[in-house]
Amino acid sequence: MIDVREVTFSYREPVDEEKPERPALSGVSLEVRPGEFVALLGRNGSGKSSLTRLLNALQQPAEGTVLVEGRPTSDPKLTQAIRRTVQIVFQNPENQQVGLTVGEDIAFGLSNIGWPQAEMAERIAWATRLVGLAAGEDRPVSGLSGGEKQKLALASVLALAPRCLILDEATSMLDPVARRQFVETLHRVREEQPFTLIYITHHLEEVMAADRWYLFRSGEIEASGTPAELADQPALLAACGLELPYARRLSFLLRSRGIPVSANPDAEELRRLLWKSR
Ligand SMILES: Nc1ncnc2c1ncn2[C@@H]1O[C@H](COP(=O)(O)OP(=O)(O)OP(=O)(O)O)[C@@H](O)[C@H]1O
Ligand SMILES: [Mg+2]
Repeated sequence: MIDVREVTFSYREPVDEEKPERPALSGVSLEVRPGEFVALLGRNGSGKSSLTRLLNALQQPAEGTVLVEGRPTSDPKLTQAIRRTVQIVFQNPENQQVGLTVGEDIAFGLSNIGWPQAEMAERIAWATRLVGLAAGEDRPVSGLSGGEKQKLALASVLALAPRCLILDEATSMLDPVARRQFVETLHRVREEQPFTLIYITHHLEEVMAADRWYLFRSGEIEASGTPAELADQPALLAACGLELPYARRLSFLLRSRGIPVSANPDAEELRRLLWKSR
């Protein structure tokens, strides 16, 4: 689905040959297979968003290649097909809303890809229901909360049935409960209508079920592996500015002291363990 090979990318031409600026991405390679759920993780400025812009042909690498379903993003004739395949929801929903009402906003993307007019209303209703946008499509976009705008951004792209969806900190404006609902919705939709998911977040609990994690550090990929492989390396995670959810950290500490506990203990298991250890 996505094949990134040895990519280097900078926002500016080097001004001083003697003191070259650190590129936003250097020597980055990664591969995402169809239907996979992959997480891009790392501290602020590590290059995650820059990579997503390359995947959608919004930017071009200085070196290396980016292929989307085998199509090089460097070929302008393929840009439209690539943007149809790969949809991105960015962190700030305001920049992505074009309609005055919820319904108009979703309809805009649908008309762009030539969705049949007769099936439009049904699709809009489906998408708003899916993300749990209350009271429907006539609501003015200006009256939505930050979290609702993020849900609308998600509804607008899900309506288009993309084969690959990139969510770049798309839950940043949601509270923890809404964030959990958002992630559950996403996986429910993937069961119904499978797509490749590339997920960027600072919250590891949202990506414990991912197939693979890529850890970014200063524009390079520091490590990649399954969540189980990487979650057991707190020093590596810390070096990449990441912290495991509380239960996982506690479990790791207990196991490192020889106390048998599962990798992701629930409150009941921890209570039993504490009780026993008294
Ligand atoms: N539009 C831009 N113009 C110039 N430099 C930029 C631009 N966007 C990002 N950068 C720089 O490129 C590097 C990588 O930034 P990027 O936004 O890709 O990181 P990120 O991992 O997405 O961070 P965050 O978690 O804060 O979103 C950083 O040094 C950043 O300052
Ligand atoms: Mg970013």
